[in-house]
Amino acid sequence: MKYSFKIGSLQINNPIFLAPMAGVTDRPFRLICKKKGAGMMYTEFVSANGIIRENQKTLDMIKFSDIERPLGVQIFGDEADIIGKSAKLISERFNPDIIDINFGCPVPKIANKGAGSGALKDKNLMKDIVKEVIKNSSDIPVTVKMRAGWDSNSIISTEAGLMLEGLGVQAITLHPRTRSQSFKGCADWELIRELKETVNIPVIGNGDIKDPDDAIKMFHKTNCDAIMIARAVLGNPWILESIFNKLNGLKNKPVTILDRINICKEHFSLLLEDKNEQVCINYTKKHFNWYLKGFDGASKLRRKFMKVKSTKEIGNLLDSIN
Ligand SMILES: Cc1cc2nc3c(=O)[nH]c(=O)nc-3n(C[C@H](O)[C@H](O)[C@H](O)COP(=O)(O)O)c2cc1C
Repeated sequence: MKYSFKIGSLQINNPIFLAPMAGVTDRPFRLICKKKGAGMMYTEFVSANGIIRENQKTLDMIKFSDIERPLGVQIFGDEADIIGKSAKLISERFNPDIIDINFGCPVPKIANKGAGSGALKDKNLMKDIVKEVIKNSSDIPVTVKMRAGWDSNSIISTEAGLMLEGLGVQAITLHPRTRSQSFKGCADWELIRELKETVNIPVIGNGDIKDPDDAIKMFHKTNCDAIMIARAVLGNPWILESIFNKLNGLKNKPVTILDRINICKEHFSLLLEDKNEQVCINYTKKHFNWYLKGFDGASKLRRKFMKVKSTKEIGNLLDSIN
């Protein structure tokens, strides 16, 4: 693969990144995506407050195994000293390959307090958070994932990028929508190109990659070092290997119904290992709703899974499909 680069001391040989997604990129999903060719993966965003309180559910979100490396733990918070302390705990107890700071979450409950995309409104807070995280992360590279700005009147990605680089951030992922846009409109890839042209650290382009052609276009139009995909992976982790193949001039195989059934089986058994009964049922339904699409009988099958009340029922239903 010709697209290799370094994030701090971390060597990246595969520039196809799985985006952090709350409620999705847990251990089972990451293991599936790793097999399908994710070059770098992240935890869901994790609350700095929850981490320093050592809330067990929060700490469980950070657990990962060595097969998942290179892995980034993504944190969010609105107080520099707390997010700094959380970085210390993460680096000492979990030793991930990257600690990533979330400056992108648009959810009002989070952003209105100054965390996530809220920090885009307050460069001093952004600066303080980054300084504290870097100070407390030992030699683990610290990266940032951000949106373009708070709203269309305050696009700050390029200017903030320079500031972040100056503070010692080792890579920036840009999802070039504003907080006000949430997921509406289009991601403005021109801002990714501008950021890449301005900073000397790696830039990871994110937003609106729906298929391998989009991924190639993103590389060409923005000159980014890596691309990151979120929504298009839901129900379709095969997109990761399809992009890899496309980048390397290899042929892609169509995804068959059997592939879809087999991934349901694999994902369910990973969820069984990882979650309690009710959470396992909920997550199975969520992912099966995404996987079981695009073939004759898919909706009928989906409906059957949506009605299940126990993991035993899910197992029996899966055994009955052949
Ligand atoms: C269900 C879901 C959960 C998300 N959770 C996070 C998160 O925890 N941290 C984060 O930085 N971005 C999160 N995002 C944003 C994505 O990482 C990504 O920036 C955005 O979806 C744009 O990429 P896409 O067009 O490939 O979907 C989430 C997106 C979705 C759809």
